[in-house]
Amino acid sequence: MTFSASAAPAPAMPPLAELHLHIEGTLEPELIFALAERNGIELPYADLDELRARYEFSDLQSFLDLYYANMSVLQTEADFADMTRAYLRRAAAAGVRHAEIMMDPQAHVDRGVPLATAVNGVASALAASEAEFGISTGLIAAFLRDLSEESALIVLEELLAMDAPIIGIGLDSAEVGNPPSKFIRLYDRAREAGLRLIAHAGEEGPASYVTDALDLLKVERIDHGIRCMEDTALVARLAEEQVPLTVCPLSNVRLGAVDTLADHPLPAMLDAGLNVCVNSDDPAYFGGHVDDNFAGLKAVFGFGTDVLETLAGNSIRSSFITAERRDVLLAELDAWVRAQG
Ligand code: HPA
Ligand code: ZN
Repeated sequence: MTFSASAAPAPAMPPLAELHLHIEGTLEPELIFALAERNGIELPYADLDELRARYEFSDLQSFLDLYYANMSVLQTEADFADMTRAYLRRAAAAGVRHAEIMMDPQAHVDRGVPLATAVNGVASALAASEAEFGISTGLIAAFLRDLSEESALIVLEELLAMDAPIIGIGLDSAEVGNPPSKFIRLYDRAREAGLRLIAHAGEEGPASYVTDALDLLKVERIDHGIRCMEDTALVARLAEEQVPLTVCPLSNVRLGAVDTLADHPLPAMLDAGLNVCVNSDDPAYFGGHVDDNFAGLKAVFGFGTDVLETLAGNSIRSSFITAERRDVLLAELDAWVRAQG
């Protein structure tokens, strides 16, 4: 009797789409130092340990301060491309098969980096992503909600004029005090230009920001949205309309939106029938990529194959990919489920 070699074990991660990812939040400390050296930039940290010691956050703003400061090392197209490729390589190992990636154009323009440098650098890496890493991609321009709507409109017009390869717009940065109502004209203009619409809402801000993002900005997806759980009527609406919520559990813990992973509302959101998926947000800052988020959730909540299938399926169905690509990824997910036995 002969035995054939046993098949490789089924991968722990289902194939999925990552829909909530800030490319600038993938900048790892090692790359920050490497780019600083390449560009002759003096960092305010003596070494990696001193930089890593700053990754303790009390709230969203304390993270944003470091996130914006570290961007100073991004100067050339090659810098943006190298950062993007490093994310894609790591994401492929995490099971990501499609990624919709936000970048913050205003954060670069405002410190003197030309818009084309930032956009072309990221876009050049994305253009090669499917061939190089097996990850299809889309680029989303996220606008900083603590800046004026006028500033956002100027940058959006520049992006449109240069025919930047963006599929949509988002809204990020300091949420509280910067409600969706501040950006109605921006979203009207983006919609008129044929762009897809998403926005951060209900991360630190109240549930009413989620409602307003839907009603005033007419967004198709909500980034985070966890504070919707404080409004029963809103939860019922989100469940009824199956509005996608791109949840980022490790981010919520690191920024103090929830105390511990065990306190995260994700299981309650699933129970309420919400269309949730799991994402990494800013993996270099929040303790890991999407596979690390899944590992934490599995450890704390004991999620089995059925929940992982739901979360991965939601991510694929909530993406802005073509129906053809969606069907390919859903078939891969089916195959993954069968391989789990
Ligand atoms: N929230 C808001 N703005 C951001 C984030 C975030 O998690 N990451 C980068 N910009
Ligand atoms: Zn985010």
